[in-house]
Parts: sequence; C-alpha cells; structure tokens
Amino acid sequence: MKEVAGKTAFITGGASGLGLAMARSFTGAGMKVAIADIDDDALKAAADEFAESNADVITIKLDVTDRDALEDAARQTEEAFDKVHLVCNNAGVAISANVRDHSYADWDWVMGVNLDGVINGVQVFTPRLLSHGEGGHIVNTASMAGHVATQGMSIYNTTKYAVVGLSESILQDLAHFDIGVSVLCPGFVATGIYTSERNRPTTFGGSEISAFDPVKDEYRPDEEKQLLQRSLDAMLDPAMIGDMVLHAVQNDEFYIFSHPEFKEGVQERARTISNAFDRWAAYRANYDS
Ligand SMILES: NC(=O)c1ccc[n+]([C@@H]2O[C@H](COP(=O)([O-])OP(=O)(O)OC[C@H]3O[C@@H](n4cnc5c(N)ncnc54)[C@H](O)[C@@H]3O)[C@@H](O)[C@H]2O)c1
Repeated sequence: MKEVAGKTAFITGGASGLGLAMARSFTGAGMKVAIADIDDDALKAAADEFAESNADVITIKLDVTDRDALEDAARQTEEAFDKVHLVCNNAGVAISANVRDHSYADWDWVMGVNLDGVINGVQVFTPRLLSHGEGGHIVNTASMAGHVATQGMSIYNTTKYAVVGLSESILQDLAHFDIGVSVLCPGFVATGIYTSERNRPTTFGGSEISAFDPVKDEYRPDEEKQLLQRSLDAMLDPAMIGDMVLHAVQNDEFYIFSHPEFKEGVQERARTISNAFDRWAAYRANYDS
C-alpha cells in the first residue's frame, strides 16, 4: 500500500506501547486512525494527545476477545472514516513462569488476547478490506518469541508461533486480492508489556497476579539471566517500531525483524531442525521393512 495518506488504519492495543507508536507514525503520514483498546486511562491519554495535534483519530473501548464488540468497533470506524485499509492486530499481553506453575486461567487469558484477538481481527476485517476494492494491508504483531522458544515462556511462545503461522498462510491467501500482510516480530521494546497484568480481567485471575519476569525464573541459568537483563536494560524505543511498521506497509515487507541480535538464535533453531531432518533421513535409509 504505497499511498497511505488519507487512508484509514485500525489498531488494536493502540492506546499504549507499540500500537500507540504505530498511531503516531500513521497519523504523521496523513492517515486517519482508529485506536481500539481495553484500557480506559490509556485511551483517554491517547485521545487527548491526538486532539492536541489535530490528527484524525477516534478512540474505541474494546476487548479483542469480544467478537461482537470488535464487529461494532469496525462499524464505528467506518461510520467515522468510511473505509478501513490497514488493520493492525496488535493487542497483546505477556506472562512468564515454568509450565508446571501455569493455571488454565493463565492459558485462557493470554491465548484469548494474543491469538483469538488476532484471529478475530482477521475475521472481522478481511471481508471489509476486500469490499472496497482499494487494496489494503494487515499487520499482525507477533514477536521474536514467535520464532525462538525459551524456557518460562510456554504460553507466550504458543500464541506468537501461532500468529506467525497464521500470518504466513494469509499472506498467500490474500496476495490474490491486493491485500498485503506483515508480521511484526520485535525483541525487547520499552512498553507496558512487562506489566500486562494491569489489564488482566478478574475472570482470569485479576491484576494482582504478576505476569512477566523472566529474569526471576529459578531454573534459568545465571548466564542467560544476565543476557536477558542486558537486553531488558537496552530496550528499543517504540517510536522506531511504529516507523518500521509504516515502512513495511508502504513497501510490502512481510517479516518485520527490528532486532538483528536475535538472528543467530533463529539460525540456530533452523540448524537444529536441519540436523534432525538429516538424522531421520539416515534412519529411513537404513530402515529394513
Ligand atoms: N514490548 C515488547 O518488548 C514486545 C516484544 C515483542 C512483541 N510485543 C508485542 O507487541 C504487542 C503490543 O504490546 P506492547 O509491547 O506495546 O505492550 P503494551 O502493554 O504497552 O500495549 C499493549 C496494549 O494492549 C492493550 N490490551 C491488553 N489486553 C487487551 C484486550 N483484551 N483487548 C484490547 N486491548 C488490550 C493494553 O491496554 C495496551 O494498551 C503485543 O502483542 C506484544 O506481545 C511486544
């Protein structure tokens, strides 16, 4: 979608962190933006910020796990801006703990927001992007955790691998209809994700349960903890990610890899898989049936 000025973006989890950075980059490029988020205070702050800069922005209270509410949010956006061209399925929460300590409430909360939220966004908006014939783009926020699994991250890894898989598939489906797809895969960025429990509904345990502290993990080797801590101390500014997403939309870039320091980990995983293929090929070659 080379030309973005005058077009409309819908961003879930848009009231803080990466989503807010996207809203700033998109409005800076002349786009109209609908910011949808579950957090009232963050929505109010975002509405105030964009009112001050006279940007074409509406804010909508939304829980991405609520399909009817998402449908309604899409309708509200079309009422305000006529059509939607760019959808950023970005709302997400993080949790870390050894898998033996996870409850169903942990799984249901994080799977609901990070995976069902993206699925719901794809379901609600794909027909809308197709309906107006002006082309469009979907950006799904995954993570480096969608390419490399680490201990203590089973739930988050599950959701983010799924978002990468979903995105890789719909990239091919929607290419026939002039709809681009990108998958955003950042490493550590300075946002509110590390206090995700602030938006954890009481039905899933409430905000008292601390969600994310991988450095605390008693089973993580000290060397890895130090590495993690160094990464956490040197987190990227979300503003750069907002601009990267805009660039990806305008240049039809599928993978958005903002953190080159994770490349080696992805290659290591590919090598491990490749070696396993070779061992199983040898097994087959020697198999006497
Ligand atoms: N910050 C990082 O280091 C990092 C790295 C990789 C991926 N990500 C991903 O980036 C995305 C954005 O997170 P962030 O880092 O900006 O964190 P953030 O906490 O600053 O922003 C997430 C936003 O999602 C909203 N949200 C939470 N639950 C919601 C729900 N049920 N419905 C609607 N909105 C909801 C929150 O209110 C918040 O405004 C997430 O998908 C996250 O997994 C973040």
